Amino acid sequence: MNTLLILQNGRLIDPANSLDRQADVWIQDGRIVQSGSAIPADATILDVKGKWVVPGLIDMHVHLREPGEEYKETIESGTQAAAAGGFTAVACMPNTFPVNDNATVTGYILEKAAQSSARVYPVGAISQGSKGVELAEYGEMKRAGVVALSDDGRPVADSQLMRRAMEYASSHHLLIISHSEESSLSRNGCMNESIVSTRLGLNGIPNAAESIAVFRELALAELTGVSVHIAHVSTGDSVELIRSAKRRGVHVTAETSPHYFTLTDAAVDGYDTNAKMNPPLRCEPDRQKIRMALQDGTLDVIATDHAPHSILQKNVEFDHAANGIIGLETSLPLTLALVREGLISESRMVELMSLAPARILGVPGGSLTVGDVADITVIDPEKKFIYSREMIVSKSENSPFIGWQLQGKAVLTLLAGKPTYNEL
Ligand code: DOR
Ligand code: ZN
Repeated sequence: MNTLLILQNGRLIDPANSLDRQADVWIQDGRIVQSGSAIPADATILDVKGKWVVPGLIDMHVHLREPGEEYKETIESGTQAAAAGGFTAVACMPNTFPVNDNATVTGYILEKAAQSSARVYPVGAISQGSKGVELAEYGEMKRAGVVALSDDGRPVADSQLMRRAMEYASSHHLLIISHSEESSLSRNGCMNESIVSTRLGLNGIPNAAESIAVFRELALAELTGVSVHIAHVSTGDSVELIRSAKRRGVHVTAETSPHYFTLTDAAVDGYDTNAKMNPPLRCEPDRQKIRMALQDGTLDVIATDHAPHSILQKNVEFDHAANGIIGLETSLPLTLALVREGLISESRMVELMSLAPARILGVPGGSLTVGDVADITVIDPEKKFIYSREMIVSKSENSPFIGWQLQGKAVLTLLAGKPTYNEL
């Protein structure tokens, strides 16, 4: 038996058990155990007074780039970045080289993940090669360990194929995650279509490129009765469509990313390619609607869309630059800003970043119940720091938040009771 580890005097925030109070957490043999009255003499005690003890954060949308683009990120470096950001689990998108559309690639990812700093849940491709023509083999991938299906990075243009994907996925109890984009509207654009794109002389992507696709997914979910999860929601129109679909009882869940509730397309000014991602940063009214949707439950999850790229893809003309920013190490502090502003409660934050993603993906975690595996994040909500290049753990540095003063940070991340990150 491993010695007992006690996190003492922290503020336990555990919405799954409707808990938010000061309490100790006892951990033994990688699991949460019942706290006793007498502390054994050989116990390791960590005083976490003033800190929050929450279920390990789960990011259901990251790009780990392995296999194929290990110069941008690897499963090892990406999960180390995850641990530094307070995450104990991530779901990784299939747009690797080769695409994760078969059991061999899924198996490869899981083998590498076994020694990594966070749990890794592979997402398999909806279509072979994510080309949008033929469905991938879901049964084979499910047996190999995928938890969901997505052609993320690319939309599924063919509605009939998406309908079949939903039906086939549901028979394998796999969730479809939709990258909702009508590419006939977006394909020439490289940023949001707005006054800023006009001023910068860049081709725009209208909000409708997202909402048309979101509407289709909702209609197909309604038609088939199958659940769908909408990835990286960026517009107010999408929020309204999802809100009314939920009211009608459509089985839909949705996520947004910290950049959509923090930034607007004004960040593109100066042709900053670290403000380029897909979907693009939108205008202030969209940002406001995203924030309200996090508050009222229309959006279920905060996921980063962590998308590492090297300077080779980013130090180029804006319209040639790759889409995406890293996010694992800034997601928690950017979300804590919403808590400080009073927009969401601490408990709601834990729901958005841990409980809901666990439930939606159907994976363990998201709660601190006695007997659960001890995946735990300890947060110092007061800690202020400047997010600098030097502190980035990810292999890539494509973040628009470098140089920002942030507040609140994971100071201890435990994976099955063992520290994967520790600055206590
Ligand atoms: O900005 C993005 N980057 N959006 C995506 O959908 C894909 C991702 C990537 O893989 O770089
Ligand atoms: Zn995407």
